[in-house]
Amino acid sequence: MAKQISQFVCQECGKVSPKSMGKCPQCGNWGSMVEEIVQSTTSKKGKAVIRSLSNAEPHRLHEISGETEKRIPLSIEEFSRVLGGGIVPGSIVLISGDPGIGKSTLLLQMAMEMTSGGTVLYISGEESEHQIKMRAMRVLQSGTSHEISENFYLLTETNLDAVLEHARQLNPAVIIIDSIQTMTLSELDSSAGTITQVREGATRLREFAKRSGVAVFLIGHVTKDGNIAGPRVLEHIVDTVLVLEGERYQAFRLLRSVKNRYGATSEVGVFEMRDVGMKEVRNPSEVFLAERMVNAAGSAIAVSMEGTRPILVEVQGLTSRSFLNNPRRTPNGVDFNRLLLVTAVLTRRMGMRLNEQDIFINVVGGMKINEPAADLPIAAAIASSYQDVPLRADTVLIGEIGLSGELRWVNQMPLRLREAAKLGFKQAIIPKPIHKPESWPKDIQIFEARSVKEALKFAFSDSTTTNQ
Ligand code: TYD
Ligand code: MG
Repeated sequence: MAKQISQFVCQECGKVSPKSMGKCPQCGNWGSMVEEIVQSTTSKKGKAVIRSLSNAEPHRLHEISGETEKRIPLSIEEFSRVLGGGIVPGSIVLISGDPGIGKSTLLLQMAMEMTSGGTVLYISGEESEHQIKMRAMRVLQSGTSHEISENFYLLTETNLDAVLEHARQLNPAVIIIDSIQTMTLSELDSSAGTITQVREGATRLREFAKRSGVAVFLIGHVTKDGNIAGPRVLEHIVDTVLVLEGERYQAFRLLRSVKNRYGATSEVGVFEMRDVGMKEVRNPSEVFLAERMVNAAGSAIAVSMEGTRPILVEVQGLTSRSFLNNPRRTPNGVDFNRLLLVTAVLTRRMGMRLNEQDIFINVVGGMKINEPAADLPIAAAIASSYQDVPLRADTVLIGEIGLSGELRWVNQMPLRLREAAKLGFKQAIIPKPIHKPESWPKDIQIFEARSVKEALKFAFSDSTTTNQ
């Protein structure tokens, strides 16, 4: 009988240790080291894990074809753009996100729309054939075609060896694995969802993708408590990592690329979860601004670059008298440290007594803006709420704030201004340009400000009830 040995593997970072430990020595997480049984030292099966890659040979770089890869077009445009313009054959893409956010729905829709691109094999280890068929019928109503394609195959299987065998026989253009955490390799004794299974499974799938030219989509769950192998380890294995995010109780879903070997990172696709599946939102700025109350104090419009696309969002600020020693600073959708910085600048450079105020910031629509270009709208939203005076209507604010209260230039300004003009905004308050770009938009009036002080003076100057 083969002797079984066990090892302790950190489910966050993959660190392996022969003995049990409370804290992972590599990533410092507590309680993340989980016992996994590995195959016996005497077993021959172990050899299967170390597969040889001996069929590769060195080639001269200039002899290798430099043509851009052909892509399989995707009619879901928001998805296509995030991938970098369609699906690259032989690529491996991870889609991660909280349970219930809509990963299965989105990929099912993709599979149903892909019919012209070739055969699709959807492998589910989570749901029954019947459940998936029911969902397919549901999302069919929102799709472009009104019947289910002949080229769509479904397989409910959790054994990865069997999955790969079927994939080889069927030779589809795309396979979808829902989810990587449910797949197991029989030669590994550890249970499904452990980091060893997830990592080995994904590695096997990557080899399959590279050799066969089949595009592989993996669905990966993330849980806050880290019980299931975190997609962290997967990030190194795959070509592209997409994250589907959004507030559970809000309809908007953002598909964000955090790594992409075939396109720009931080590209964002916007969807809305409807009762007939995920609906593309082609004009996110309009949708995010739809419920805005014009002339309300504490509301400022920011233009945020999400990948290659500018998106207009409303930043709301609320200040209210605090009775705490440490007044609250609650950012929703913006970075906490940027909020602290902006607050400090307003306190010191503008003389606002914000140390007596609780401050809440909310980016409408569940968007998150991390770029410094949102500093000025954050500052304006706070100032506007603090003084209870609305900001100038039809005006966008763009700019990074420095510690001395100066306004700093941000990239992609013409693109941002054009998007604002397109949506009917008449004025923009921006930092003084270092040199004027050539393609400066003409249909929007521009106020250049050197400092937050100047910018806010402009921002309040038009208000009818101004008390400045
Ligand atoms: P799902 O795609 O199963 O999420 P994940 O695979 O990320 O776990 O989505 C499940 C949620 O989406 C569920 O709460 C129901 C909702 N939903 C809709 O609102 N409309 C729809 O058309 C579908 C199919 C699901
Ligand atoms: Mg699912």
